[in-house]
Amino acid sequence: MLSTTLNRSGARIRTLTAAAALALLTVFLAPAAPADASAPLRQHAAARGKFIGAALATGPLSNETQYRTLAAGEFNQITAENAMKWDATEPSQGQFNFSGADAIMNFAQQNDQQVHGHTLVWHSQTPTWVQNLPATAMREAMRNHIDTVAGRYADNPALVSWDVVNEVFEENGSLRTSFWYNTLGQSYIADAFRYARAADPDARLCINDYNVEGINAKSTAMYNLVRSLRQQNVPVDCVGFQSHLAIQYGFPNDLQQNLQRFADLGVQVRITELDVRMQMPRDASKDATQATYYRNVVNACLAVTACAGVTIWGITDRHSWVPDTFPGEGAALIYNENYQTKPAYTAVHDALAGGTGNDTTPPTTPGTPAASGVTSSSASLSWAASTDSGGSGLAGYNVYREQGATDTLLGQSATNSTTLTGLTADTEYQVYVRARDGAGNLSTPSATVTFETSAGGGPGGPCTATGTIQTQWNNGYVVQPVTVTNTGSATLNGWTVTFTLPAGHTLAGSWNATLTTSGQTVTAKSVSYNGTLAPNAATSFGFQVNRPSGNTQTPSGYTCASP
Ligand code: G3I
Repeated sequence: MLSTTLNRSGARIRTLTAAAALALLTVFLAPAAPADASAPLRQHAAARGKFIGAALATGPLSNETQYRTLAAGEFNQITAENAMKWDATEPSQGQFNFSGADAIMNFAQQNDQQVHGHTLVWHSQTPTWVQNLPATAMREAMRNHIDTVAGRYADNPALVSWDVVNEVFEENGSLRTSFWYNTLGQSYIADAFRYARAADPDARLCINDYNVEGINAKSTAMYNLVRSLRQQNVPVDCVGFQSHLAIQYGFPNDLQQNLQRFADLGVQVRITELDVRMQMPRDASKDATQATYYRNVVNACLAVTACAGVTIWGITDRHSWVPDTFPGEGAALIYNENYQTKPAYTAVHDALAGGTGNDTTPPTTPGTPAASGVTSSSASLSWAASTDSGGSGLAGYNVYREQGATDTLLGQSATNSTTLTGLTADTEYQVYVRARDGAGNLSTPSATVTFETSAGGGPGGPCTATGTIQTQWNNGYVVQPVTVTNTGSATLNGWTVTFTLPAGHTLAGSWNATLTTSGQTVTAKSVSYNGTLAPNAATSFGFQVNRPSGNTQTPSGYTCASP
């Protein structure tokens, strides 16, 4: 039986209450050999040709037995959380201190672990004596620092890679206006890689950053920089995706796709600083979501041949940078503060072990999706969550378009909602959802929802929209301008721009357009004085957003239609 309703933007939404037919899809891998519950993470990782690592702090490494035992027993790769940074290794010019760095290296050699050096050139944790140098002296200080620090471990087989530059981008993809950039210009990046290659010819040389896990302005800027540097024979061998995630901001479902596009440039990729924080207090439901995030990251790395492995940014919630930086948040690691494993540990373990033991039980069927915020190119969906009792845990959902025998996978989501983008205007979509677990078992399909995208383009012709972050602060930012350009051959008589705000972000004001929201989808319509646009002409509007403290995700999916 069908029921049809109209949503606020005039798009039709229809719910089919009969269960959809099973689609002919074999999207997921068959489960591999069962995991040995007692085997440590490093054993499973090694069997998959990957590393599983942890960032280590020198304090607990020297005075906590449990910390040392887990660091040695569970991980085959380590990164110094702070001990190899500039403020630790060269606090005064020419005065080097390798006590912490050597402790990390010695521990790795004793325990047959590889070390990722972190980090040679960063704007943070770099002493003021460096920051205040004039250009020539600063470049020479950088060369000498890289030469001395990377050179010290060049003959040590445990040291396999370096973060040569760290966090060189702003959120909008422009180069960060750090003291490095302000004093030396963009060339400091290529110089740092060349100096590092000279200091340690055998180490893999990496560029590392945060908020680059999904495909967005920042990760695309990094992609373009890596491609351009390699075209100029600058020795960039590897790209690090920090992956400081938070369950309240959603999982970057295009992580695997993003890793693969970098891999296709010929570089190694690696997850360098994984943690998944939550708003405190912990509870079973948050732990389960966190476990899903960990599992998805490990699975993404396993699925990309060029991904060398995953480093978790710490071992225990007892020692984590998160509560100091994000008050009220924490519990981001796979062991709790008493060194007990959390569901996240099991998720990492089972993913590395090849799935999941003998889980052949699929998750329960998800609820019928509800569609909202339907535009000419996007639609938001949400549905009642599934549960999984087979042991491998709920991993996420696949969203399909029903098209007879060859249904199309429209997207994947780690949570029970998603926004579909890139839809065709003026088109009816029948969409259903299947839950998947960590073993790749798929649930039976939900019932379908049918919606119709609104007309795009229109008689006036097509248009484009791009938004730029003008300024930002801890709790908010301004997007200005959003440039609307008539790319057609006829004059536009009005335009409509849609885009998506990140989860938790809310609109705080706007100008030069009328904005309405539906969930996280924002619709901006031209006003009386800027709707008429000649071919190739452009106009703009702007808006302000409140965001959770420190959450630096940005609006995405700008599309434009007329009227
Ligand atoms: O060692 C001093 C101690 O003597 C002093 O009593 C104490 C008082 O605040 O500070 C201690 O130093 C702290 C240091 O961690 C060691 O615990 C610094 O204040 C603190 O700023 C520093 O934080 C580190 C942070 O980088 C610095 O930006 C975190 O531990 C470390 O986890 C974090 O790691 C970064 C990565 O390098 C790059 N990517 C992001 C990641 C998280 O911010």
